Amino acid sequence: MATDSTAGKPSFLRNILARVLLLGVLIVVVRFAYVVTIAGESCTVGEFCFFSLPENLNIVAGTAASTANKAVRVAPAAGHTRPDIYTSKDWIKAVHFYSSTFQRLISDGFLSPNSKSLCVETPIGQDVFALKEIGVKDSKGVYKKASKPLVIGAKGNRLPFDNETFDFVFSGGGAFDKVSRPLDLASEIARTMKPEGFVVVHTRAAKDTYSFNSLIDLFNSCKVIRSREIDNYDSLMPSIREIVLQKKRKFLDHREEEVSGGNSVNKCSVPGHKRELVRNAEPLIIEEPLKPWITLKRNVQKVKYLPSMADISFRNRYVYVDVGARSYGSSIGSWFRKQYPKQNRTFDVYAIEADRTFHEEYKLKKRVTLLPYAAWVRNETLKFEINRDPGQDVQDKGRGMGRIQPVAKSDRTFEGEMDEIDGFDFADWLKKTVTKRDFVVMKMDVEGTEFDLIPRLFETGAICFIDELFLECHYNRWQRCCPGERSPKYEKTYDQCLDLFTSLRKSGVLVHQWW
Ligand SMILES: *[C@@H]1O[C@H](CO)[C@@H](O)[C@H](O)[C@H]1NC(C)=O
Ligand SMILES: *[C@@H]1O[C@H](CO)[C@@H](O)[C@H](O)[C@H]1NC(C)=O
Ligand SMILES: *[C@@H]1O[C@H](CO)[C@@H](O)[C@H](O)[C@H]1NC(C)=O
Repeated sequence: MATDSTAGKPSFLRNILARVLLLGVLIVVVRFAYVVTIAGESCTVGEFCFFSLPENLNIVAGTAASTANKAVRVAPAAGHTRPDIYTSKDWIKAVHFYSSTFQRLISDGFLSPNSKSLCVETPIGQDVFALKEIGVKDSKGVYKKASKPLVIGAKGNRLPFDNETFDFVFSGGGAFDKVSRPLDLASEIARTMKPEGFVVVHTRAAKDTYSFNSLIDLFNSCKVIRSREIDNYDSLMPSIREIVLQKKRKFLDHREEEVSGGNSVNKCSVPGHKRELVRNAEPLIIEEPLKPWITLKRNVQKVKYLPSMADISFRNRYVYVDVGARSYGSSIGSWFRKQYPKQNRTFDVYAIEADRTFHEEYKLKKRVTLLPYAAWVRNETLKFEINRDPGQDVQDKGRGMGRIQPVAKSDRTFEGEMDEIDGFDFADWLKKTVTKRDFVVMKMDVEGTEFDLIPRLFETGAICFIDELFLECHYNRWQRCCPGERSPKYEKTYDQCLDLFTSLRKSGVLVHQWW
């Protein structure tokens, strides 16, 4: 058998074929360059110059990664300001990945060649290119900076499209993870989508149930159809989660439903993913500590912070509320700013402190809002005693050294100073200030008032807005100064405190014992 000659013939044919294809490609490039330079701006996003190619070349472009395929992808480079992008390996890899992703979505019924499609947060539009390439002609991309001809310049929180425009919206490359206000983008996506339309999000986060649910909660008019890990094209991000959502026909806010659905308007059900966090939290101290000033302080080292157990992405705002903040340095500056794991989020801080001594310094603090009142169960003026820790020097007449507590029963023996102060309905304020899509951390140190405030938070449903609570519970503790003596300041016992913590955890609140 003359194997040599038979092998030579096909390779010769292949050579010719390759030359023909290359010539074709050259024609495309020249034609594109011509159209772009001559027609210029008239080469609009809707009507692609390089898509009005001869049929046969389009078919070549549609087939798998042949050299011709890659070369055609290079086409938009001609005449473009940044030609290097389109010839890069990354561009080709990305387009290839998105083509197969969209082809899969077509065969699964989430996308069709007739779908009016939008890709969001896409800087150069490989996904848009891939959509067009596989035949979804009516596709466009948006990014804050335009990248003609594939991507329109527009802000994610104000998409320049009418309500119910798109059948299919795509957010790829983990771009959704980096959006600073994901709720705004999610709302805009939902608004511009047709009912029954599909949103597909590729995210690096949402690996744990906590962040997955946070993401889903942003799309309040959509339901989850599918979620799974897929291989990604980017070696820095070898796998990525693909979430498919569908817009419901009737606008329904399932979160609102959840709150107002039951018999009681204010009951909220704690989702399973929050209960899971509570189960994984550090155990409560069951035995009353003999040296609480040591035991409770040490316990802080054992605290399992929520952001150390779960990814806190996809929340609308990040909020820290310090109830009984005292001076800026006492817990906001020394603990929250320095030690609380924030996963790089910027938190808005609310400091609630009735003692005037501390008010001045808050004026200079950025991103800190001072509420110069006492957290209380209703709006009313209260009489407070300014007291001092027993055994503490009384020489300092400045009120700063004392703490404030409401005078519950006027028959109590009391020698300190009295003051009048405005109390406000804390639970009501919290419900008006944050939403369930915000991440809310709270520290509460209110000198015994927790036994009024916590039940009120449950009664009003405001408790459901708190993701993580650091609570100092005040009871008649053993004193450092005077061995064998209990503090006369508080009536509650350690067991009552333990009950409070236990009931909070039972209700799904991630509460920690604070000192
Ligand atoms: C578009 O939708 C938004 C919210 O989904 C709504 O507030 C607005 O009134 C709608 N606009 C039109 C023109 O229907
Ligand atoms: C946090 O942000 C800084 C600066 O913005 C960045 O350099 C760093 O990599 C980020 N860290 C994480 C864990 O995202
Ligand atoms: C309490 O007072 C604040 C500030 O004036 C007000 O916004 C709020 O609605 C009041 N709350 C109640 C329950 O009356």
